[in-house]
Parts: sequence; C-alpha cells; structure tokens
Amino acid sequence: MFDKLNALKETFNSELAKSKSKVQLTILKDQYLGRKKGKITLLMKDFKSVPASERKELGKALNQFKAEVVRVLQDAEDVLTDQTLEQQLSTNSIDITLPGNRRPLGHPHPLALVRQEIESIFHSLGYSVEDGPEIETTYYNFEALNIPEDHPARDEGDTFYFSNNLLLRTHTSPVQIRTMERSQPPLRIICPGTVYRRDNPDATHSPVFQQVEGLAVDEKITFRDFKGTMEFFLKSFFSEKTLVRFRPSYFGFTEPSAELDISCRFCSGSGCRVCKMTGWVEVFGAGMVDPAVFNFVGIDPEKYNGFAFGIGVERFAMMKYGVDNILNFYQNDLRFLRQF
Ligand code: DAH
Repeated sequence: MFDKLNALKETFNSELAKSKSKVQLTILKDQYLGRKKGKITLLMKDFKSVPASERKELGKALNQFKAEVVRVLQDAEDVLTDQTLEQQLSTNSIDITLPGNRRPLGHPHPLALVRQEIESIFHSLGYSVEDGPEIETTYYNFEALNIPEDHPARDEGDTFYFSNNLLLRTHTSPVQIRTMERSQPPLRIICPGTVYRRDNPDATHSPVFQQVEGLAVDEKITFRDFKGTMEFFLKSFFSEKTLVRFRPSYFGFTEPSAELDISCRFCSGSGCRVCKMTGWVEVFGAGMVDPAVFNFVGIDPEKYNGFAFGIGVERFAMMKYGVDNILNFYQNDLRFLRQF
C-alpha cells in the first residue's frame, strides 16, 4: 500500500509538471480528487483492506498527500491567474496618467444671469418671487389691470389669442392681480416670466421675451418710496454713478405712471449713437398702483397704496452686455452664448 502511494506521488508530480493551463489543472484535479474515480479517492477506499498495524501510519500519509495535492493544485492555478493578468497588462496597457476627455460644461444663459441678478437685488429688499400662467384670460391680462376694452394693446394684431377670452399673456402684470387676489398686504413681490406679443422679429423686437414684474403694497407707501426703490435697484444693477430720471407716462394700472430713464452708460450723458444723442436711455415703465386695480382684487384703496414696475429682461441684458440685437438671445448660437 505504501508503495502504491509513493508511485502515485511520483506520477502526480510528473503530471503536474506537464500541466501548463487551467484546463489541464482541472483535469488533473479530477483525476486525483474526483469523488468517484479519483486516484486518491480509490486508494482511500482500499484502506479497509490494510492490516490494522499499518492503518494509523498509512492513514496519516494518505491524508497528508491529499492535502498536499489540494494545496499544490491551488498554488499552480494562482500562478497561472497571475501570469494571464500580467500578460494582459503588458499587451493592452493603459496609461492612467493620460488626461481624460473633458466634457464641455454648461452654464447659464445671459438672460438667466440678468434675471437672477434682478431677483437677488429685490431679494435683498425683502421681495419674494411669484409665478403665474403664460396662458391667461383677458380678465387677468387686461380687464383687472384697468385696460379698457378699446385699448390698442388688446388688438388681435398685437396679442396672440386662442379664443375670445384666452390668450398668451402680453406682460407679467396679470401675476400682480393673481397675487393680490389670494393675499392681503403688506406685499412685496416680483414675478419673472415669459411674455408674448405679435411683433415681427427684428433687432429690438422678439415675439417671445421675458419680463420681471414688481409690486409693493402696504399702508402709507409714498411716491418717495417708489423713487427710492427704483433708484436703488438701477444703481445696484448698473452702477452707483447711474442717474435716474422719471418721465410722466400712461398705464391703465398705475396713476401716476412713469417711464424711467437712466443716464447713457456708453457716453455718460454727453450723447452718442446708443442714446440717440440725448444722453438718456429708457429702461422700463412703472407707477403708483391705480385704486381701480385695488377695487378689482378687493383691497381697500383708502387704506392701502403701492407701486408697480415692469422690467424687460432682454433690454437690461442688451444694455449690460452691449448686445445690439435682441434675436441673439434666441438663436442659440454657441459662439454668442459662450461669451457669458
Ligand atoms: N406691463 C407693462 C408692459 O408690459 C410694463 C409695466 C408698466 C408694468 C408699468 C408695471 C407698471 O407694473 O407699473 O409694457
């Protein structure tokens, strides 16, 4: 029996030396350790026929050999695994020090930048942001804003109508009405959003554009509060040196109404092409809320007053960045957009 064992050890060693692949190792493992016909398994089955005096020693030797075979086969397999890995690394090598492909980073649109800046200035004054629908009724877009039935702004040539009383809002002012309907003063809000007008596109007109509406309502708000707020805003947005001028104007929803001008940023007031030699550039419309509007929303005009304003975002962006064609903001030419 001992002789058999020694012979088996020898054949195993020589066969192991010849096994150069994982497949060969698996075959060898099966030949020696296979549960039914493995050579070691069979030898162990013969164990019963061994005389009792030899059993102890032989048992030990058999177990040692079996453990040895398991270990040696595993080692051989590990070596092969390492070798294949090394081979793979040396043939298809990856240089991990090479820089990766950079993905282009997106960034805010110039109109978003301007809108955010307007918002943050009014935030600092305690204003909050309100939102409203872009599809409006004639009631909110015109009537409740005290814009009479025969006003030219209601004309089909100026407004996109879906039906008699449904339209694409032509300004963000309807959000004033919606906000005042659901909340009582004191109110300090701005409403940024998209508006639509039936204009043919050209350097200063786009049928789609953005506005930021503003509204402050409280007891004892004066024209001085209005002027002070507007001046603070325009100086913060453009520069401390900016001069602000109020010209009388007309809007149905404000009384008195004003058109605001700022000193021309390009010539500092001495006159140039941008300001058409006047030294002033018109920026937006505003005024003290007309008591008629308060009556529409159920706020007592005897107790409360306020002011409102409507800022054109494109106009501000054009002035701030010196852009001379409004359509640049809508053509999505990356050469233009990447500059901001
Ligand atoms: N809604 C006006 C427009 O689109 C702008 C405007 C003017 C808004 C005066 C106001 C305001 O709130 O008081 O032309």
